[in-house]
Amino acid sequence: MSASDVTLDATAPFAAAPDALVALHDVRFGYGDGRTVLDGITLTVPRGKVTALMGASGGGKTTVLRLIGGQQRTQAGQVLFDGQDVGQLRDAALYAARRRMGMLFQFGALFTDLSVYGNVAFPLREHTDLPERLIRDIVLMKLGAVGLRGARDLMPAQISGGMARRVALARAIALDPDLVMYDEPFSGLDPISLGTAARLIRRLNDALHLTSVLVSHDVPATFRIADQVILLANGKIVAQGTPNEVRASRDPLVRQFMGLDADGPVRFEYPGPTVEQDFGTAPQPKRGVGAQPEEAAA
Ligand SMILES: Nc1ncnc2c1ncn2[C@@H]1O[C@H](COP(=O)(O)OP(=O)(O)O)[C@@H](O)[C@H]1O
Ligand SMILES: [Mg+2]
Repeated sequence: MSASDVTLDATAPFAAAPDALVALHDVRFGYGDGRTVLDGITLTVPRGKVTALMGASGGGKTTVLRLIGGQQRTQAGQVLFDGQDVGQLRDAALYAARRRMGMLFQFGALFTDLSVYGNVAFPLREHTDLPERLIRDIVLMKLGAVGLRGARDLMPAQISGGMARRVALARAIALDPDLVMYDEPFSGLDPISLGTAARLIRRLNDALHLTSVLVSHDVPATFRIADQVILLANGKIVAQGTPNEVRASRDPLVRQFMGLDADGPVRFEYPGPTVEQDFGTAPQPKRGVGAQPEEAAA
């Protein structure tokens, strides 16, 4: 099947954009334990934009990033990166596609035994055979882009959490990717560093003509910088639109996620036997298949 055979959901706000760098079409995925993690996801990531992927913990956000990066393959549906079906790519072609993707992993720490400079130089030394002189120029340029050119000789232990995150950002864009995926880049940051990191993601996106996918729980910071917000819950997309469109939604799930309603459709309780079954005389249920656990940790 070629890219042109894929029809995208015309009802989704961004689906009709001809200029999608990434497109997921009716993607179904589970990790093989009988549980469905993604249950028919259709979305597009427009070129040049910042797309925020949000939703409760365990909702499948990191999984979507892994599917885009080809670390996991769908059980049904397609994941297109620049028109290529990522699920069909093998070895060299997959490697080439991945080189065009920068990734700031969830809890992605710096190499503690490498300096700030060494951390940003690492992907360049690993994936290119550029001469050291050129690597130096690129590293200093990337560090300059995150305001840390002067910190090049410091070790990770000598810099703050906010600075470390900015170094990780410089490392994610070291290879001049077309797409940058940030998995919870704000976790553990104080409000000031968080604001700085968020603005930086937006600035880098625009200055370097990137396309960004941002997974984040921080509603205010993310809504400030995103062009498009996609909200995942219970394996499906429950909202997709501009921050203002999502903010105005009356959907109970969206309102719960935005912190407007304390309780709502996202279940607090991990599925299992009922209280009666555990403590009473009711028969024990069958386990496993079809269960949809959710943690209300958003
Ligand atoms: N490698 C894995 N093996 C099995 N289950 C996994 C794996 N990674 C994630 N999961 C499960 O898949 C679901 C979605 O996880 P994830 O994509 O990490 O969610 P999020 O990033 O939104 O918190 C969760 O229920 C999680 O427990
Ligand atoms: Mg995650």
